[in-house]
Amino acid sequence: MENHKKVHVGLIFGGNSSEHDVSKRSAHNIFDAMDKDKYDVSLFLVTKDGYFLGTKASTRVFDGEPEDDVARQEIAKLDKANPLAPVLNLGEDANIDVFFPIIHGNLGEDGTIQGLLRLLGKPYVGSGVLGSAMSFDKDITKKILKLAGVATTRYELLTPLTVERYSYQSLSEELGSTLFVKPANQGSSVGIHKVENAEEYSEAIRDAFRYDSKVLAEEAIEGPEELEISVLGNNHPIASKVGAIKVPATDAFYTYDNKFVDASQVKFDVPVDISEDLAQKLTKMALDSYRALGLKGMARIDFLVSQAETPYVSEVNTLPGFTNISLYPQLFAASGISYSDLIDRLILLANEEHERQSKILYDFKPLPPKDQNVNN
Ligand SMILES: Nc1ncnc2c1ncn2[C@@H]1O[C@H](COP(=O)(O)OP(=O)(O)O)[C@@H](O)[C@H]1O
Ligand SMILES: [Mg+2]
Repeated sequence: MENHKKVHVGLIFGGNSSEHDVSKRSAHNIFDAMDKDKYDVSLFLVTKDGYFLGTKASTRVFDGEPEDDVARQEIAKLDKANPLAPVLNLGEDANIDVFFPIIHGNLGEDGTIQGLLRLLGKPYVGSGVLGSAMSFDKDITKKILKLAGVATTRYELLTPLTVERYSYQSLSEELGSTLFVKPANQGSSVGIHKVENAEEYSEAIRDAFRYDSKVLAEEAIEGPEELEISVLGNNHPIASKVGAIKVPATDAFYTYDNKFVDASQVKFDVPVDISEDLAQKLTKMALDSYRALGLKGMARIDFLVSQAETPYVSEVNTLPGFTNISLYPQLFAASGISYSDLIDRLILLANEEHERQSKILYDFKPLPPKDQNVNN
């Protein structure tokens, strides 16, 4: 049989968000599922402090050495004269064909790492700089969705300049007596508060402003159904079946603790049993959101559905949890696309998008490939 050249994939994982450990699990599952006859895989760990480790050190951590010890040794060795050394350390393994950055949350899902890979001139899995950045910002996401005619909950944007204009009283008259206060650029339910009076409101905004200078005060959907759809593709995206997250009735909402401290109480329902009519509405909303935000590769679109069955898009995750028990792949598994098939398709989509990008003219000529001279 003809011997095809293997695709060399750079799997970037970890990162300095609260989802560091989830990202490590995503990376392990992706690595295990990748067909080693088709792929060579190099690992790049971004430490909790945001240092980019080379493949040898990353592989040691992957194989079980304590991350903090390896990170300390590697950081001490970094070239102090090169300010980029902590940020991009391709080291001994520079000839990557395509990157798969599976870093959830801050500095992974928000366009920053996408910018780095774009400068490097390499294909990468997932959305580009703008789509990632817009989707990570709940204020911008809602503004774009509104323009695209996709229903999303009403809110006011609070900033250090405008916050004085609002009181719990004025907001509750406009949006209802229960409000969700949340930082615009965060995830994992960090800094999110459900508030029902003026005192809770002032505490919530004080806390939310610790995480971002943009804070949303949002109308609450009472006793919502939390539904999700996975989307895959570039210019012709496809949607999965609909799934549900069932949070215990004793919890006020889907909190950090039931995401990361004790997830045993939270149940996924894949696929969820809902009316054909609602499923169709949600599918359209998911694909409309994906296109409006200009997303590529993949995204998980999250919905809140009111008791009267009115659906709202609540947020868009461009690098959703990707462990083999995460919702994103489970929803596609229920739709007939296996975990390893998803990985193959994402890599093809990354190459397709890169191909498209590489034909775009910059000052009359395409950006030249940097293949040969990449080094740290
Ligand atoms: N407007 C809202 N009405 C009802 N519940 C909400 C609302 N906004 C957020 N929540 C609850 O808070 C959780 C986290 O909010 P979300 O906007 O998804 O932020 P994150 O990016 O941190 O996941 C949701 O899963 C849901 O349980
Ligand atoms: Mg969420």
